Amino acid sequence: MPTAIINSLGTYLPKKILTNFDLEKMVDTTDSWIKERTGIEERRIADDEETTSILGFKAASAALQNGNCSPDKIELIILATTTSDYPMPSSAALIQAMLKATNAGAFDIQAACSGFIYGLTLAKAYIEANIYKKILLVASDKLSSVINYEDRNTCILFGDGAVAALISNEGEGLEIKTSNLGAEGIYSQHLLIPAGGSKKPASEDTVKDKLHSVKMEGKEVFKHAIRRMAKSSLECLEKLNIQVKDINWVIPHQANFRIMETLAKQLEIPFSKVFRTVHKYGNTSAASVGIALSELFESQEVKPKDHLLLTAFGSGFTWGSVILKKTETND
Ligand code: COA
Repeated sequence: MPTAIINSLGTYLPKKILTNFDLEKMVDTTDSWIKERTGIEERRIADDEETTSILGFKAASAALQNGNCSPDKIELIILATTTSDYPMPSSAALIQAMLKATNAGAFDIQAACSGFIYGLTLAKAYIEANIYKKILLVASDKLSSVINYEDRNTCILFGDGAVAALISNEGEGLEIKTSNLGAEGIYSQHLLIPAGGSKKPASEDTVKDKLHSVKMEGKEVFKHAIRRMAKSSLECLEKLNIQVKDINWVIPHQANFRIMETLAKQLEIPFSKVFRTVHKYGNTSAASVGIALSELFESQEVKPKDHLLLTAFGSGFTWGSVILKKTETND
């Protein structure tokens, strides 16, 4: 059976920085409250021209360049996003056009902040089934387009960004060893955008009532996120028949420093092994785990045969984990 390997990664973070001090001027909050409760210091915000597909295209171009791969070699583009440019067509199709990936199929998947993990799982399945040999997985979100910057419960948390992974059946990089996905739709009301879909199409009232922005019950999300990421991580380890001590790095969804800290305690893993970018980018939704993975990979800290545990949780609720193993040679 072919194995699925992440050969290269690329990211794109918008230039504009929104700091906690900027937010102090916008809502009733403070830098110290945000840092203490979330660990976030700043986040990136895309400008008007930088749509989700453009963020994704820039990350995809970087991944292709880092992997020395031309766009025409790509057979499939999977985009994980919650903030597609349009309800129709998919933003994956827009990225396909911008890349000129003339031999690729393209579609979006929606698993909110678990999107990158869901995408890795799909890519692994396609490659192992020998359906495709080269897949570009993109995760891109412009959460700032669905945030109410008058709601201090949500506006402090999110940022914009994108990541892309070139995944193939050959070469060096990070082998996708196993994965585990889950969902519990009964909790959908705890984290959602109430309008703009088929249930409540856009109207004057939905705009007036600010129903096109993220609504969240933070405490509920917090509780479920820890429980689900811990359980799904352990299930993944069991599937691969390895122990927590065999994991060299944990890369959790970058939503909140305290969630990561509690997760590390529950997994009984030193916090120094938990890779973090939340302080500088906030929660970039589908892109969050991938952006952190890319930064860790670039840091040269990942050694041959290292095991990396990725785990995420998001609206749905959805969650999932993936274990990656660095291939033996260090190209
Ligand atoms: N600045 C200052 N005060 C704030 C605030 C802000 N930005 N947001 C909320 N508060 C206030 C609340 O109004 C509340 O005041 P009260 O006690 O007078 O009612 C107090 O701070 C505590 O609020 P609470 O919601 O209990 O805080 P918390 O410790 O649960 O932290 C979150 C709030 C949102 C940071 C936290 O619940 C969280 O991170 N949840 C998970 C969010 C997440 O990860 N979402 C995405 C998942 S994909």
